[in-house]
Order: sequence, then C-alpha cells, then structure tokens
Amino acid sequence: MKKKSIWDFYEMKKAGTKITWMTAYDYPLASFAEAAGIDMILIGDSLGMVVYGYDGTVSVRMDECIIHCKAVRRGAPNVFIVGDMPFGSYHTSDAYAVANAVRFVKEANVDSIKLEGGVRIASRIRAIADAGIVVIGHIGLTPQSSGVLGGFKAQGRTAESAEAVILDAIAVQEAGAKMLLVEAIPPELAEAITKILTIPVLGIGAGADVDGQILICGDMLGYFAAFTPKFVKKYANVAEVIINAIKEYVDDVQAVRFPAPEHTYSVLSEEKEKFDEMLKKYIKN
Ligand code: KIV
Repeated sequence: MKKKSIWDFYEMKKAGTKITWMTAYDYPLASFAEAAGIDMILIGDSLGMVVYGYDGTVSVRMDECIIHCKAVRRGAPNVFIVGDMPFGSYHTSDAYAVANAVRFVKEANVDSIKLEGGVRIASRIRAIADAGIVVIGHIGLTPQSSGVLGGFKAQGRTAESAEAVILDAIAVQEAGAKMLLVEAIPPELAEAITKILTIPVLGIGAGADVDGQILICGDMLGYFAAFTPKFVKKYANVAEVIINAIKEYVDDVQAVRFPAPEHTYSVLSEEKEKFDEMLKKYIKN
C-alpha cells in the first residue's frame, strides 16, 4: 500500500472520492487499520478516555500522545498519521504551540498535527504551518472546550451559531491549515463548509456531504462502552468477543482443560531417563 500525501487528499476532494480516517492508539490496531486500507489514522486525545479511562480529554499529556503516536507509526508505516495536540500544548503562546508540534514530527514521525478551535487559535495554526508542519483544524464540537460549550453538545444548530462555525472554518483555512475536521454540526452546515473551503473537510457527526469521515476506534469497534454518541455506527462488538474469550479461558483453567499437551515443551527424548532420575532426588514416592 502506497502512503498518501496531503496532496492526494486534495485530489480525492476534487474527484469526490471519500477519505477514510479513524483513530488508533497502539501498534496492533494501527497494523490492522493499514491492512484494511484506511487512508488516515488519528492518535486522538480521545485516548485519554478510551485507553486511560479518564473522564475527558483535558488531562491528556504531551508525553502520552507522543508514546502512542510512536506505536501507531510502527504499526502503520504506510498510512498518513495525525497527532492530536492535547489541551495545554498550544494554548499559551504561538512559540509553545510550534515547539510541541515539532515534538510530534521529530519524536513520533507524524505526517500532520490536529488542534481544536477556529478564529481564536488562528495565530497558532499560522505559526505551526509556517514551521512547515501540516496542520488540520478541528471546529464545531471541540471536546477540549466542552466546559465552555456546556458539555459535549452539537454546535451550529441556530443561524447565528452556524455562522460562527462558518467563520471558524474560513479562519482555519486562511491561517494555513491543510484540512479541517468538523464535529457534531448539522449536515447542511457541514455540506456548506465543504463547498466554501478549498481544503478537504472531514466530518464526525456531520453527515455524509463532506470529503471524508472519521470515527473513534473504541466506538466503531465496540470496545469502549462508557458512552456512545448518536453519530456512531458500531461495526463490531470487540468487547463481547474479548469478554467471551476471557470467560472461556477462566473456565478452561479452572477445569484443567488448559494447558493441554500441545501447549507444553517436552523433555528431550535422549535426556528423559537422566531427567526422571534427577527428579527422584527431590520428589519421594
Ligand atoms: O480525539 C479524537 O479522537 C478526536 C475525535 C473527535 C476524532 O478528536
């Protein structure tokens, strides 16, 4: 499989070919995603919830993101991978944002970084893009600011708030982002943004009329049960498969069905006699 570049995604937008994107946080899943032919992988800060069991994304740290990006890079060397800048890694200054974006590229070899916000973080996008790093914007429902949004709520459902989302989208593109993710907005608004912008627009909870889709692996594969948003389609129930497998293992061990002879190592045949003699020294009768 040939790794796609950012410009391939522009060609796909032009041709109307949908871009496929999902999250992954570890080596095995990244390798499965590459084998399945995914275009892009995001090591989302959703790893805080899906992998670490935090109740949101704000406590996720840079070093956690970098470790998981490295694992995904090893698992999917031929997929375009995107590191997600965690809360606090780009909020205080343009220089700090650039320094952290550079860490993603140098330490984890990502192809791009993603950060949340529109008009309010345009200068950060500009600074990171000027450093030669591919930036992906993220607007609409931005989980890192769910506190000020009043929770994990869909955005742009009134004319006024929809216009604010459009202005964010334009600001992201004008600041130099090469792609945009829109989250939890009405499909009509997502479609309009996709038409207004020249950069590819991907969606999550934003309907089908965008240039591509992303889903969080824990949701789509059914191994994160704490909360499933309305926009998720579940393609597998991995949790059920794993729980059933572990139950079977527990039963087998308790009933001494596992391990069976085929799971063990035999004593070398030419050593068998000496071996049995040696054991007799320790085990009487
Ligand atoms: O962190 C994440 O997984 C995200 C999703 C909204 C795609 O940003």
